[in-house]
Amino acid sequence: MTEQELVSRAEAMKEKSYVPYSNFPVGAALLTADGAVFTGCNVENAAYGACICAEQTAIVKAVSEGHRHFQAIAVTGNSEDYCLPCGQCRQIMSEFAPDLKIICGRADGAFARYQLSELLAHAFRLER
Ligand code: THU
Repeated sequence: MTEQELVSRAEAMKEKSYVPYSNFPVGAALLTADGAVFTGCNVENAAYGACICAEQTAIVKAVSEGHRHFQAIAVTGNSEDYCLPCGQCRQIMSEFAPDLKIICGRADGAFARYQLSELLAHAFRLER
């Protein structure tokens, strides 16, 4: 799976987004350590706080199917600039893959790479 292929899988998911409130579709594609891909889209709600991000959809799909080790995630929206994951999504990614590769796409198809450790420095972890 190349980075371009993962971005293409994320782009295709924008079609499935349910975004009557923001009209901002986001698609995600999560690559597991063993090479499987789980996709996701954003799913909004009239109670705005209940909106679910595309990355969360993909991660919850993967974890609920028994996958907890991830190599990379592609995220893309219809914005001029790269679509970067929100803070809550960064924290959710950090639970499973503190140094996940994040590939962010933009409307013209270009993409940029980041490491989660640079986007979420000093992430919270529960130490008891
Ligand atoms: N959104 C995502 O799907 N992922 C992010 O990381 C940031 C925001 C969605 C949530 C909402 O449906 C829309 O984009 C506008 O905020």
